Amino acid sequence: MKKNSKLKVSIIMGSQSDYKVMKLAEKTLKKIGVSFETKIISAHRTPKRMYEYAAKVEQNNIGVIIAGAGGSAHLPGMISALTHVPVLGVPVESKKLKGLDSLLSIAQMPKGIPVGTLAIGEDGAINAALLAAAIIANNNLNVLKKLKNFRTSQTKSVKKSPK
Ligand code: RP5
Repeated sequence: MKKNSKLKVSIIMGSQSDYKVMKLAEKTLKKIGVSFETKIISAHRTPKRMYEYAAKVEQNNIGVIIAGAGGSAHLPGMISALTHVPVLGVPVESKKLKGLDSLLSIAQMPKGIPVGTLAIGEDGAINAALLAAAIIANNNLNVLKKLKNFRTSQTKSVKKSPK
């Protein structure tokens, strides 16, 4: 990986159907001014695509991967096994089990291959983007400044009284 260069975030998801949630990660990264790319990669439907993507993560200057998946949700763990960049998993709400399956699948990685797991659904997608931005901000003052501004305006937006 090129040190001190501008790293980007890669948002990947197991299916087109995950995009309704994962587009919130895109929106949040745009707000903070973090460069990103977005791809559909399924660990079980497009395994070759997954291996090819993973092989090029470092040369493509990717500093953090946000991986959204639902159901058995093995994409984040598989990508983490195949790369050395931080992987943040977003459990996408599933039809039958409301995303509890996705959450447990992503969170319960056995020791040795970590996946940082966020909340189920939209909150998770937004927080994954904020966490990815915070990681990028370690080497990017512009992103750090925008993250701080985001927090400040969020704090200001909270009223003191509900009335
Ligand atoms: C997973 O299966 C995807 O991440 C998605 O959340 C889930 C359902 O996919 P579709 O059947 O909607 O394509 O691989």
